[in-house]
Amino acid sequence: MKTIAITGVLGYSGRYVAAEAVRRGWCVIGLTNSAGRLPNPAGYELRPMPWSTQDNVLAGVDVLVNTYWVRFSYAGKQGGHAAFSHDEAVQNTRTLFAAAQRVGVGRVVHTGITCPDIASELPYFRGKAELEQALAATGLPHSILRPAILFGDTPQESILINNMAWSLRHLPAVATFGWGDYCLQPIHVQDFAELAMDEAERSEPSRIINATGVEAYTFRELWRLLARSMGLWRPILPVPHAVGYMAAKLLGALVGDVMLTRDEIAGLSQNRLAVPGSGLGSRHLSTWLQQHSATLGCKYASELSRRQ
Ligand SMILES: NC(=O)c1ccc[n+]([C@@H]2O[C@H](COP(=O)([O-])OP(=O)(O)OC[C@H]3O[C@@H](n4cnc5c(N)ncnc54)[C@H](OP(=O)(O)O)[C@@H]3O)[C@@H](O)[C@H]2O)c1
Repeated sequence: MKTIAITGVLGYSGRYVAAEAVRRGWCVIGLTNSAGRLPNPAGYELRPMPWSTQDNVLAGVDVLVNTYWVRFSYAGKQGGHAAFSHDEAVQNTRTLFAAAQRVGVGRVVHTGITCPDIASELPYFRGKAELEQALAATGLPHSILRPAILFGDTPQESILINNMAWSLRHLPAVATFGWGDYCLQPIHVQDFAELAMDEAERSEPSRIINATGVEAYTFRELWRLLARSMGLWRPILPVPHAVGYMAAKLLGALVGDVMLTRDEIAGLSQNRLAVPGSGLGSRHLSTWLQQHSATLGCKYASELSRRQ
């Protein structure tokens, strides 16, 4: 039986990749910082992430799947959430790649982002581009999957979409940053997991895949689709980015979370969350919304609470 090591195995997409790997007969080892903090109902063997270049936690591993990343940099709060940053995530991932190179892992499947950019002023897109280069430099056979947004299986896991729905339920009007004509191309997390395992099982040369879903919506269309699925009507107001950001910041403060960052708004409006001409998987966001319309957005999904 072949062995696959998966980072974020107790997190969102990593959990789906692990379940798909088990279905396909792989032995799964989870690499995590959250042993004891998050439930491990599947009972995976867990190893601490290799944060030191001396660690040998990848010994005997045939394939490494990496989903580890941080959504935004956060300064932390005394007596509350710990700090984390993109720089730290880039450094930790480089250490992970070095560990994979040292033991000669057979293939690395790495999760990136659509439209990474080494010259970007946005640390998310720049950091992801740096990591793609770092992975290529290891010389290990690899696949890079670039999703834009994940959704499914439960509304609580699909943070952005759930919290848009939450806003529709709780606010008299919603907003687009500018005209809202930039696109998003969400992929179902199970489609993503299947793609990741298809890549894990490949022996062909390294490649990069836009792991975007079959439907693409402008931000304005997504508000409309969500509202329609939930049987609601709300005015959708175009507002300057700074005003939209302040509103998201205020709402975030009210719910004790970081709802959306300035950089995320910039990335969205720079049209980085869709790739024209791409589209993989078989699950449609529009169908999923209909299936989950009764529970979608009933409860706010907090990014920071996931880290407690
Ligand atoms: N979710 C999306 O909509 C989306 C969209 C585009 C691209 N992606 C990419 O897809 C990959 C997986 O995304 P995901 O949503 O499945 O990730 P996730 O579950 O939120 O995070 C994956 C793992 O990263 C670690 N992690 C996350 N936030 C952290 C923090 N603040 N501090 C320390 N460690 C943290 C955790 O590892 P431990 O459990 O070991 O602590 C977590 O299990 C990422 O590379 C992401 O960039 C996701």
